[in-house]
Amino acid sequence: MPHGARRALVLSSIHDLPPLNQVARHLIGMLGNDRTSALDLDHVIRNDQALTARVLKHANGSMYGKSRRIASLAEAVVLMGENQLQELVLGVSVLESMGQVLLPGFEEVAWDHSVDCAAAARALARLDRKVDPEVAFVAGLLHDIGLLVMARAAPAEMADVMALAPDDPLASERRHLGVNHAQVGQRLLEMWNLPPVLAEAVRLHHAPHRKYAVINPLVNVVALADVLATIGGNTLYPAAARPDPFALLKMCGVSVDRLPALFDELAQSRDEARRLLATVRGPGHRPQDTDESPAAPRVFSVFAVDALRRGWYEHSLRHLGHSVVSPEGHDGFEAPEWIIADLHGASPDSRARIERAAGTCGARLALVTTTVVSSGPWREAPRLTPVLDTRVIGQLLAQDSLAYA
Ligand SMILES: [Fe+2]
Ligand SMILES: [Fe+2]
Repeated sequence: MPHGARRALVLSSIHDLPPLNQVARHLIGMLGNDRTSALDLDHVIRNDQALTARVLKHANGSMYGKSRRIASLAEAVVLMGENQLQELVLGVSVLESMGQVLLPGFEEVAWDHSVDCAAAARALARLDRKVDPEVAFVAGLLHDIGLLVMARAAPAEMADVMALAPDDPLASERRHLGVNHAQVGQRLLEMWNLPPVLAEAVRLHHAPHRKYAVINPLVNVVALADVLATIGGNTLYPAAARPDPFALLKMCGVSVDRLPALFDELAQSRDEARRLLATVRGPGHRPQDTDESPAAPRVFSVFAVDALRRGWYEHSLRHLGHSVVSPEGHDGFEAPEWIIADLHGASPDSRARIERAAGTCGARLALVTTTVVSSGPWREAPRLTPVLDTRVIGQLLAQDSLAYA
């Protein structure tokens, strides 16, 4: 099929999708509005009986329904709170409007990733307060919706793109389908008449920039959330495809002293979102992380001169369930198995110190790829991306067991 025809096929398929229901559109329109009361929420949802029935079914399957049977929306509001009920309604509605994708496993991974991105965006918004946390949640949930549209319209071409594991997914999508998922997502949100700030954040989630901190801070929040979602979560594209996390942290106002709060908030928000939306995908959906289950806890050390970089790697590793100790001065107790080094700005002296520390405790060295060193022990060191996601660390540790097998 010619390139232009494929593009036309994908774009016209947007119109074949069942529309996002009125209730969800109304709720998204009300987001960030302080005057929204529990009464409004109850009224809006109650108008759609079929949706009400589905929401109550999922509410009863969620953590809230375990403690008490939820028989009405009014009870759901009391028990779950407005935000959680709203998120459940939106989750059910968005998933329903997507229909079926004929690519095995794709839908599940895309859904898990969207829920994790929603949770991460909300965590960032709770910390930064420049964006309403519920708006951030919805933006995260919808950010990759264009991928689902494309996988539904052109499954064979999307399977080709995924098989390539491209470092530049948007360019690869454009080559194969004539359009990329950020553009398709924006078109869909516009067709659904959702607020322009949301459509813009979806269009630009792979193109964050300092200037959006003022114009539309949601753009950078979703871009960073997209990265955070991959640490301990499922992903469709490889880690090399992700933007520089340090620039993103700065754009979102996350300084080194706020990293602990960010990762705490991230863990909590993700736990809430996963437990709330676990039932929405329905029976047959495998639980999170079976594909890329976190590796067994290991002991790491991190070396980086820059405190933000060091903090980022340490928190990422802890978020994946590993422990992090100092490369020196561990008294032989809990010696690190791996030292992850980012030599950005490191002097020859400090580099030599790390080499010595690795030799003393028998740790292997891994090098973050923002730095190029090809001498001495670094020549053999595995190269990692600055985003230490589940897959990157999983591959590193797999290599480890091969080396010792
Ligand atoms: Fe994306
Ligand atoms: Fe994403």
